[in-house]
Amino acid sequence: MFSVFAYTSIAALTAAVFMPETNMSYKRRLSIIFRRTGFLREYRDLYGNLKQGLPKYLGETTAGNYAEYSYSIPLGNVLSESLEKAIVEAFDVPVKVYAEGGRLYVRFYNENLPENISYAKVPNRGGYVVPIGKSLDGWLFHNFDKTPHMTVAGATRQGKTVFLKNVLTYLSERHGEDIRFYMIDLKGGLEFGRYAKLPQVVEVASDASEAAEVFTKLRQQMNETMAYFRDNGYTNIVNTPIKQRTFIIIDEAAQLTPEPFMDDEEKKLMQYCQWCMAEITRIAGALGWRLIHATQYPTADSLPRAVKQNADAKMAFRLPTELASRVAIDENGAEYLPNPGRGIYRTVDRQIVQVPYLSDEEMAKRLKLTKRSVITWGELGERRDDRVRTNEVPTENDRDIIEFE
Ligand SMILES: Nc1ncnc2c1ncn2[C@@H]1O[C@H](COP(=O)(O)OP(=O)(O)OP(=O)(O)O)[C@@H](O)[C@H]1O
Ligand SMILES: [Mg+2]
Repeated sequence: MFSVFAYTSIAALTAAVFMPETNMSYKRRLSIIFRRTGFLREYRDLYGNLKQGLPKYLGETTAGNYAEYSYSIPLGNVLSESLEKAIVEAFDVPVKVYAEGGRLYVRFYNENLPENISYAKVPNRGGYVVPIGKSLDGWLFHNFDKTPHMTVAGATRQGKTVFLKNVLTYLSERHGEDIRFYMIDLKGGLEFGRYAKLPQVVEVASDASEAAEVFTKLRQQMNETMAYFRDNGYTNIVNTPIKQRTFIIIDEAAQLTPEPFMDDEEKKLMQYCQWCMAEITRIAGALGWRLIHATQYPTADSLPRAVKQNADAKMAFRLPTELASRVAIDENGAEYLPNPGRGIYRTVDRQIVQVPYLSDEEMAKRLKLTKRSVITWGELGERRDDRVRTNEVPTENDRDIIEFE
């Protein structure tokens, strides 16, 4: 059984420098923690009396940016959340605690993550894989063929949209029309409207009624694909020669939440959209559909239960409270994240990462967008008319971000 837990204390999140010279060695401090938390082994002394002692110390290894201590896990003990927390909170450098093959490892890093990592530094990977960010153990990627659906949460201005732009750019740079994007941009199309003419972007929906239209089309395609799979005896797209993958990216999904003040028709529209999202995560992963649900604060109302259950990858940027963190990633920690772009990526394990920063200008350059290929505010405005449900107004910069040809 393999389990990994990585925590970083509040102090370590802000500490910029490694402090290897402490009054008390790391090993000694760990011994005290083991005693106080009862992480001890039992043995019999020379007279046959049952005694308790420290877990067996196995050694220390050092690598580029860390020193790691290993111990035998005493029989009957487990690596509990409270033990990890006790270890992590005792040190003011980033610490990772994990258990593997009957051993406990405590890793002390001699550096902290930077606050900004350029998208240009992301390594190249093939397949349906996107960069999540850089952790202290190196670059982390998410493979949509292994884990088809993802939720993203984070307070305003913490990096959700930048992360989604990473996904769109990284995949579009490496794939032609075998990748299709349906962007449900519920900030009135402000963020993704300008990418509507990319060959990989099939549609950008900018409000709930456009989203409902897109979902209806997707359901139809889903049914057709399902019939095709049945006829060919396929069960999962990853085991077929089919290259096509369809990404449905919903930015600010809380805009699809039915509210008590809405009239029945509007509520039904929202409920329909939520039901479609749930259906996609329930059924369509094996057919090649990948859904990313991003919202500031996922609640039972804004994040359909089926989406949460079927999204086996969860990304959280800074959230206002511990409760919000538990809602988003089923554990606390996101309330301590120190800067925009710093996130917790949660699958069976958890990793703290810095998401690469990608500006709109660099994105446009990479995707070879010229002024002519970018949808204009006029075109977008006609489509958005009076249905825009956002307080944001386009600025001069937004209107004309792509200056080069
Ligand atoms: N990965 C990152 N690295 C560095 N800075 C970042 C990163 N992500 C976001 N930022 C900074 O935070 C700002 C807001 O990011 P973003 O638009 O992604 O937030 P958001 O979570 O989508 O907010 P909202 O909920 O209001 O839409 C960016 O303009 C940028 O200055
Ligand atoms: Mg956003």
